[in-house]
Amino acid sequence: MIKKGIILAGGKGTRMSPLTKAVNKQLLPIYDKPLIFYPLSILMLSKIKDILIIVNKGQLDQYKKLLPNGENLGIKITYKEQDHPRGLPDAFILGEKFIGSDNVSLILGDNFFYGQSLSDTLKRCADLKNGAKVLLYKVNNPELFGVAKIDRKSKKIKALKEKPKKFISNQAVTGLYFFDNKVIKYAKNLKPSKRKELEIIDLLNKYKIKKKLSAEFLGRGGAWLDTGSIEDYYKTSAFVQAIENRQGLKIACLEEIALLNKWISKSQIMKQVKFYGNCEYSNYLKKIIKKSA
Ligand code: DAU
Repeated sequence: MIKKGIILAGGKGTRMSPLTKAVNKQLLPIYDKPLIFYPLSILMLSKIKDILIIVNKGQLDQYKKLLPNGENLGIKITYKEQDHPRGLPDAFILGEKFIGSDNVSLILGDNFFYGQSLSDTLKRCADLKNGAKVLLYKVNNPELFGVAKIDRKSKKIKALKEKPKKFISNQAVTGLYFFDNKVIKYAKNLKPSKRKELEIIDLLNKYKIKKKLSAEFLGRGGAWLDTGSIEDYYKTSAFVQAIENRQGLKIACLEEIALLNKWISKSQIMKQVKFYGNCEYSNYLKKIIKKSA
């Protein structure tokens, strides 16, 4: 059972400048809440309570204002600064002490997941004991992502490539990964690529070579959406707006998930209402308290 999770929430955010000049990308809104709530909710739905958030140097205070130490959500949040974007596997080098001798999940701070039976898929992934697991999603623009070529019969990963110029598959490797503890050693042995970054695909290949890499598929009923550009931000916001307003239920309401997981009580939700102040999110929290009374 994976008990530790890392959210990689740094990055240059240059594609979204000037929005990201003063504020980190993961703190910008996706409809009614900051982007970081969505990946955090995914770790919480995976029943992971011990979470490290890696942020850019100098941006720690911004994050701590929003998500202090996790106590009010029944989780533990710690922070680490990354002085410069050295690549995704850097999360395991920076997070070595945090991970200790445990297995770990990594989610990219800009990834958005939604879908029926997602919680079951996540629970299955978090059961990982050894090896590594990725979540794959069919896209029509695979050249923008890491992609996996799949064997039709066995459904096993045959090849992996980061942003392939020539088509090899339309199964994108999403930004949610589950690893055993060897990931620290493997990450430390990686060499930077041509673009001078440690590559997640190189790390996954270390597991693949040893036949220790497996995949779960987020099917047609699920959504894995982009937040890579300003246009993507608005599209993802519109998606959240449509679903939330239709159902009257929020996506990635952290307090609701914590209550369902029995990590917090109604009185802790009331504290959060005070913390957020008089707003629509607080009104939703009050409704949750009433419903569960
Ligand atoms: O979103 C899934 C894709 O994410 C995968 O399919 C690719 O295999 C993987 O390489 C990655 O591709 P991106 O081009 O989207 O990665 P990007 O450099 O944009 O970083 C993703 C997030 O991680 C972003 O929120 C910034 C953060 N980040 C990134 C790097 C390289 C950090 O916090 N530190 C870093 O050093």
